[in-house]
Amino acid sequence: MSITRLTDSKNISANEVLVVGFAQTDNGPEFLEPAISFEAASKNEIIEAIKLTDFSGKKSELAYLTIKSGVLCVGLGKVTKTQPLEMETLRRASGVAARSLVGKSSALFALPTNTTVAAHAVTIGVELGAYSFTEFKTKNEKTSETLKQASILVHDQFVNKASFQEAQIIAESIKNVRNLVNTPPSHMYPETFASYVKKTFKKNSKLTVEILEEKALKKQGFGALIGVGQGSINPPRFIRLAYKSRGADFHLALVGKGITFDTGGISLKPPSSMHTMKCDMAGAATVVETLRAIMDLDLKINVTAYAALAENMPSASAQRPSDVVTTFGGKTIEVLNTDAEGRLVLADALGRAQKDKPDLIIDLATLTGAATVALGSRTAGIMANKDDARDQVFASAKEVGEAMWPMQIPEESRTILDSKTADIANVGFTPNPAGGMMVGAAFLQEFVDEKTPWVHIDIAPPAFNEGAPYGYNGFGGTGVGVRTLVHLAQKLAKN
Ligand code: BES
Ligand code: MN
Ligand code: ZN
Repeated sequence: MSITRLTDSKNISANEVLVVGFAQTDNGPEFLEPAISFEAASKNEIIEAIKLTDFSGKKSELAYLTIKSGVLCVGLGKVTKTQPLEMETLRRASGVAARSLVGKSSALFALPTNTTVAAHAVTIGVELGAYSFTEFKTKNEKTSETLKQASILVHDQFVNKASFQEAQIIAESIKNVRNLVNTPPSHMYPETFASYVKKTFKKNSKLTVEILEEKALKKQGFGALIGVGQGSINPPRFIRLAYKSRGADFHLALVGKGITFDTGGISLKPPSSMHTMKCDMAGAATVVETLRAIMDLDLKINVTAYAALAENMPSASAQRPSDVVTTFGGKTIEVLNTDAEGRLVLADALGRAQKDKPDLIIDLATLTGAATVALGSRTAGIMANKDDARDQVFASAKEVGEAMWPMQIPEESRTILDSKTADIANVGFTPNPAGGMMVGAAFLQEFVDEKTPWVHIDIAPPAFNEGAPYGYNGFGGTGVGVRTLVHLAQKLAKN
């Protein structure tokens, strides 16, 4: 899909679908003026036509009117002086509208984009809503693809080229994450993930690209990553991308879990919880693509992304429950459950990140099913060794409209992991289903120096949407996390 901005309603082409927004009021839907109002006659025709439907204007509600070349009305919920339109509402509504325009050649979004941030939100919503993943469908099965061309009506005053470009860069990174996540494990394994990085990140004066293969992993002591990967014919990889910006004074480390497929290993998962496990590298995809966006935005901050890639398979060479591995930092782990593999590869990755002495470490991982039990299927959990670091990430998530929620790491979550044999066990000896998300965090915390601020984001719930589409998310990978992290980097960067 290509997307442009339009600053003059006279240029509205006769054959494109017009997308307009309505607020929900006690007296029915209320037309919300777009940034540039179009002729009163068309406006009145739309308002008269919508009255004949049962459209109420509630958030993300749609009504398609077959007047003119088609008018798609989208609800923006209650909008009053005391309850102004939220940007996430606008983003989602734009996404819902874009999703429903499958097969249309062109649409004009005449939504209330009367600020630069609103235009930014609509751009993101449309870009993400129009996303589809059809790479593995043959031509005949590729039914009408998504909306081909979108323009967004924006007032001259709010045509901010930099902001438009920023929205597009961010959307691009998110769509890349979705592609990586949606690519089946037959095609996406540690080596192909690494090839993608090699192909799309060219080393330059600001960027170092480092990809470790088996020999180097062994030599450098990535014992936990090797352990997780040893059951697979697809060997593990470790990626380190370092972006250095001149004059930057903050170093952000982004660490991602990159299990390209999680069968559970010898502690095998039941089929019903296995078939979505191609999403288990979402953390790795997110950190790599976040770095790309930060680099493309030329932010004055140093960012290093670390991706720990392995395929968790059961086989004759797979690690066994009760095996002991030695991590990058030297601590030993008793692997009581091979399905708690994310924390193992992250133990090495966090150790490696620590070595670069960053000012803040953030890890992203589809770490626990327990996160979904605690927070539902659309909200990520944020945990940290420092409350203010956690709150900073939480604030960032709220500001960009990504659903995340702060959680504690209680002391008792750590004691569950005491091991009789090694320094720590990867799960409790007696299976304890209580607070599993926090137990995961308590484990990870052991692998970061307590002086380094560290935040763990469990994205297991929202990383992959296996339910009905919502907002700008269709089926599959969502790319959650990119917007929060880019926004945080913008706040941490030098001006
Ligand atoms: N990759 C899974 C977690 C997961 C579950 C991600 C659902 C996305 C959706 C992780 O490796 C895992 O298997 N975790 C175990 C941990 C347990 C053995 C302590 C889990 O959640 O059951
Ligand atoms: Mn697992
Ligand atoms: Zn996993």
